[in-house]
Amino acid sequence: MRRAKISVIGAGNVGASCAVWAAAKELGDVVLVEIPHSVGVAQGKALDLFCASPMERFDANITGTSDYKDVEGSDVVIVTAGIPRKPGMSRDDLIATNVKIVKSVSEQVAQAAPNAIMIIVSNPLDAMVYTAWKASGFPTNQIVGQAGCLDVARFRAFLAMELDVSVEDIQALLLGGHGDDMVPLPRYTSVHGIPVSQLLPEETINACVERAKAGGGEIVKMMGTSAYYAPASGSVQMAEAIIKDKKRILPCAAYCDGEYGIDGLFVGVPCVLGKNGVERVVQIELNEGEQAMMDASASHVADLVNTVKKTFPELG
Ligand code: NAI
Ligand code: 2OP
Repeated sequence: MRRAKISVIGAGNVGASCAVWAAAKELGDVVLVEIPHSVGVAQGKALDLFCASPMERFDANITGTSDYKDVEGSDVVIVTAGIPRKPGMSRDDLIATNVKIVKSVSEQVAQAAPNAIMIIVSNPLDAMVYTAWKASGFPTNQIVGQAGCLDVARFRAFLAMELDVSVEDIQALLLGGHGDDMVPLPRYTSVHGIPVSQLLPEETINACVERAKAGGGEIVKMMGTSAYYAPASGSVQMAEAIIKDKKRILPCAAYCDGEYGIDGLFVGVPCVLGKNGVERVVQIELNEGEQAMMDASASHVADLVNTVKKTFPELG
């Protein structure tokens, strides 16, 4: 059987961590792609990880490159290229630099691997997904952004800490953009099927919601740069659903064509991920308050997309 191929663009903190999770799960061969100046970093990390394979017992070829020929035939391309935020910065502060990087990367990916599903990770996430869509010319199902898997995992982790139960038993749902106005949904959150509202007081649930919203910033403050293990885990969870055609329902930045009242934007919604990428967006009922939060989040995403369009009118 042919092994799947996953290319990861950017071999920094998130990219290298994606390579670790993907190789350890034997999802396929992994290609780490860097700018020519840093190709040694991609090659060195690839070799280092390959040398772990006899001990960790996984079979995967891992290579580093700056040549997009090596991306040819990829089933999934994870885009982590771009600068991360530093303390005091918001994700939106990265837009001017990262839009150029993501545009150029997406054009090259589209040439090299026209059938790949692209998972975008670079921030500000929702605007970078839009950029990749326009720059690649890919159909909307082939472009998806990683944010919701991470954000909802943070929410689940914080609830598990409060409840002192296994993280595995917490199911939760989260919508909206990857900003501080993301929309965790306690009404759709349960602990082994038990509504969370039966197990925790409202103030504690709300504190977990707020902590999830600011979870990225909490880590940036602690270590001076942005998180990478959990973001990479979210990206690889999505890659696995696609490569294994699992039809998983995961919260991802997907193209909305009227769903949730959003038209023509990539925003975090539950979707079915399988071999065709985003196979469909799942609609759930929102109450008035939830819809208002979703509208505010989508309007923030629309503002960021307008900045992209002003920077590169050809992406309009
Ligand atoms: P990093 O600085 O450790 O790595 C970024 C890498 O991208 C660097 O090695 C750099 O040389 C490379 N790069 C820059 N331009 C490139 C190009 N044109 N082609 C190939 N590689 C290129 O940064 P880190 O921590 O890995 O973060 C990467 C991005 O992911 C940032 O924009 C960050 O904000 C974002 N991020 C997104 C998350 C999400 O949930 N969506 C979570 C965490 C980070
Ligand atoms: C995070 O949420 C910064 O997007 C990054 O950790």
